[in-house]
Amino acid sequence: MKMGIQATWLLLLTLGFLSAITPTAAQSFKCSSPTPCTSIVDYVSPNATTISAIKTLFGIKNLRSLLGANNLPLSTPATQPVAAKQKIKITFPCFCTNGTGISNKRPLYKVVPDDTLYHIAAEVFSGLVTYPQIQAVNNISDANNIEIGQELWIPLPCSCDEVDGEKVVHYGHVVDAGSTVEGIAQQYNTTEDTLLKLNGLASPNDLKAAAVLDVPLKACTSIVSTSSMDYPLLVPNGTYIFTANNCVRCNCDAANNMVLHCEPSHINSSSWQSCPSMQCQGADNLYLGNSTVSTCNRTTCGYAGYLNNQTILANAVVESTCSVRESSATKFSTQAWRWNFLLIFVQLVLFSLHLSL
Ligand SMILES: *[C@@H]1O[C@H](CO)[C@@H](O)[C@H](O)[C@H]1NC(C)=O
Ligand SMILES: *[C@@H]1O[C@H](CO)[C@@H](O)[C@H](O)[C@H]1NC(C)=O
Ligand SMILES: *[C@@H]1O[C@H](CO)[C@@H](O)[C@H](O)[C@H]1NC(C)=O
Ligand SMILES: *[C@@H]1O[C@H](CO)[C@@H](O)[C@H](O)[C@H]1NC(C)=O
Ligand SMILES: *[C@@H]1O[C@H](CO)[C@@H](O)[C@H](O)[C@H]1NC(C)=O
Ligand SMILES: *[C@@H]1O[C@H](CO)[C@@H](O)[C@H](O)[C@H]1NC(C)=O
Ligand SMILES: *[C@@H]1O[C@H](CO)[C@@H](O)[C@H](O)[C@H]1NC(C)=O
Ligand SMILES: *[C@@H]1O[C@H](CO)[C@@H](O)[C@H](O)[C@H]1NC(C)=O
Ligand SMILES: *[C@@H]1O[C@H](CO)[C@@H](O)[C@H](O)[C@H]1NC(C)=O
Repeated sequence: MKMGIQATWLLLLTLGFLSAITPTAAQSFKCSSPTPCTSIVDYVSPNATTISAIKTLFGIKNLRSLLGANNLPLSTPATQPVAAKQKIKITFPCFCTNGTGISNKRPLYKVVPDDTLYHIAAEVFSGLVTYPQIQAVNNISDANNIEIGQELWIPLPCSCDEVDGEKVVHYGHVVDAGSTVEGIAQQYNTTEDTLLKLNGLASPNDLKAAAVLDVPLKACTSIVSTSSMDYPLLVPNGTYIFTANNCVRCNCDAANNMVLHCEPSHINSSSWQSCPSMQCQGADNLYLGNSTVSTCNRTTCGYAGYLNNQTILANAVVESTCSVRESSATKFSTQAWRWNFLLIFVQLVLFSLHLSL
């Protein structure tokens, strides 16, 4: 008995010691989708920096994609200061490998004098990755042997999986001290259960400050066609993006019923000589982003995607603006109640049968 207790203590101590020196692999997100996607992660710079320096660090091509992910005005200069510890959202390409998601060959970090893998992981990239993760994807056999000028792929955590059968954008949320799973769930309109399950947490008490939590962001609904080059266009709440070779700008705002709103961007196309006409199919007098209101109907010209042959698809979407026919909704819920009642009744009958047997 005594021996058993001592052995248990020894085991616990050893385990505690191991977990103290082994960097947690907690920031690996489950990912098994065969299709790559776009993900978001929070970057908390340890030092005061600028938008431009962050753009370079993460190898982001266009300033506007960084501004869009953070819902900053398009006029924000690259020199805009970022305070130490300020959170900046980074958008990056993601793919699944071996059951976890990692950023797709990006960012690439060039080793400078006095760097160590630990410093790069824990400080430069603020603990979004661990040094063994950098070591593994870069096939480095000796962590103490990296060369100045060597380019390292930093595998940011991400996922491309659907959540509860819904396409979402996975957001690596850096947990603030004092926040709760319930609070985070509420803020991003998901459930505590979903967050716990997604992050392999047994209880809400297991949430740790500074951990990177996988939060599924709902994207705005859109009418983008499956044949479009940017299908499925997933724009999460509180962000904007440019698509159709930069010709179209789309915003997602929960205040707009989570319906994607797109309009001509008025910036030069990245690939086409000029941006094509964005006239609406089904409402020739309208162009992308326009809407008209007639009795009880609002017709909006919505973005439906783009094709490589310099075509932008725009389709009319009609919404009813008058008060919805409440009677049918009421009828439906009454019917649902009747069904529930019937089921309860059947169960009661079965239950009493069971008792009498
Ligand atoms: C995938 O996991 C297996 C076993 O867990 C491991 O042997 C292999 O090296 C991993 N592959 C990659 C690319 O990480
Ligand atoms: C932050 O500043 C300190 C002191 O100036 C410096 O040692 C450290 O390398 C900086 N960290 C980064 C990520 O630039
Ligand atoms: C990793 O390195 C080992 C030995 O250095 C080599 O045999 C292997 O091909 C490398 N793998 C990749 C993916 O570069
Ligand atoms: C949408 O984003 C706003 C601002 O970023 C936030 O206040 C709101 O809670 C979010 N709503 C949903 C449903 O995610
Ligand atoms: C939050 O999500 C639920 C279910 O997915 C949805 O019905 C509700 O409208 C959403 N709330 C907001 C503010 O988007
Ligand atoms: C856009 O293109 C026009 C001509 O095609 C050019 O004059 C203008 O400078 C370009 N604007 C930007 C911001 O590149
Ligand atoms: C339609 O949208 C274009 C460009 O966004 C705008 O210039 C035009 O005034 C709009 N027309 C109507 C009828 O709203
Ligand atoms: C409103 O749209 C519906 C179809 O969505 C159409 O049947 C109806 O005629 C429209 N009403 C008006 C006033 O335009
Ligand atoms: C582009 O391709 C689509 C479908 O393949 C076709 O319907 C359309 O006419 C083409 N447009 C142009 C400008 O070639």
